[in-house]
Amino acid sequence: MQNWDFQQLRQQATADIDQSGDERALEDCRIRYLGRKGLVQEIFASLASLPPEQKPAVGKGANDLRKFIVARLEQKGVQLKTDKAQKSGRIDVSLPGAAVSRGTRHLIAQTIDEVCAIFEGLGFVVRESPEIESEFNNFTALNIPVDHPSRDAFDTFYLQIPDPGRPERHLLLRSHTSTGQSRIMQAYKPPLAVVIPGKVYRPDAVDASHSFMFHQIEGLLVDRDVKFSDLKGLLSVFCQRLFGEKIRTRFRPHFFPFTEPSAEVDISCHKCGGTGCSVCGRKGWIEIMGCGMVHPNVFKAMKYPSGKYTGLAFGMGVERMAMLKYGIHDIRVFFENDIRFLNQF
Ligand code: PHE
Repeated sequence: MQNWDFQQLRQQATADIDQSGDERALEDCRIRYLGRKGLVQEIFASLASLPPEQKPAVGKGANDLRKFIVARLEQKGVQLKTDKAQKSGRIDVSLPGAAVSRGTRHLIAQTIDEVCAIFEGLGFVVRESPEIESEFNNFTALNIPVDHPSRDAFDTFYLQIPDPGRPERHLLLRSHTSTGQSRIMQAYKPPLAVVIPGKVYRPDAVDASHSFMFHQIEGLLVDRDVKFSDLKGLLSVFCQRLFGEKIRTRFRPHFFPFTEPSAEVDISCHKCGGTGCSVCGRKGWIEIMGCGMVHPNVFKAMKYPSGKYTGLAFGMGVERMAMLKYGIHDIRVFFENDIRFLNQF
């Protein structure tokens, strides 16, 4: 009677399988261990001559050994195939593929697309404008006086140390997309209707509603006889298309150096419908953008003939739009790139 040392048999089988250099050697191995006249069969055959009390242990040992060898052969088989494919440079389509996780567009990109699509439907074209800008395009062209606080280094990221003697030469990170107004008016002649989405930068401390980088969408329409009523009609239709048919808009007088008159646009709260709730701070209205009629001094800086054209302009924050529309309370979640947040949209 033979005494089987299963531990030792495992080691032997592992060594034999690992040493198989190709599929043929591996098949020889399989026959030697698992074939009809192979080792495992031999162990099962030996059961008949064993004393009854030894049979269960040896039977189980043989079964476990068989399972172990099957798994080991399979593993080695895959490895040989992969090695061969790598050596020949060809792809083995029978091998399991690597899983690719599908992404989605970021909510900011989706919101930009949505807003731009609405304006495209109203006859606007979409243009981009550089993030690194001249002080001229960011301020001077927009009728922002030299001593205006927004020009201060506390409110704008300058890329060079400001030289008070030559403000026109300073480069900076644009603090609003209104820089696109100057770029577009210098590059094209009216009539023009453009929306300009992109990133803007301000040295703000980061908190739930502030970030040193965020996104805006600028709008500019210049033609003969553009009126304030055109501005009101356009933005009212836009708000209804983005937030729903029931949304009402109101225009509050405001001040921007580059528009006159200027206004801020409020929408009736999309959550409570105007009765007052936590979303609108019990006011029933939510401020969503700045706008106005292009200031004559802006046309002058563009060297447009005086009195020939009028225009309207507006600017909105993309994060703010997305936060309002989807009920998000912290701007930081847009930039943390936590998949659990991004996957929801
Ligand atoms: N640029 C302004 C801002 O960042 C928004 C604005 C754009 C206002 C166009 C009027 C016209 O706040």
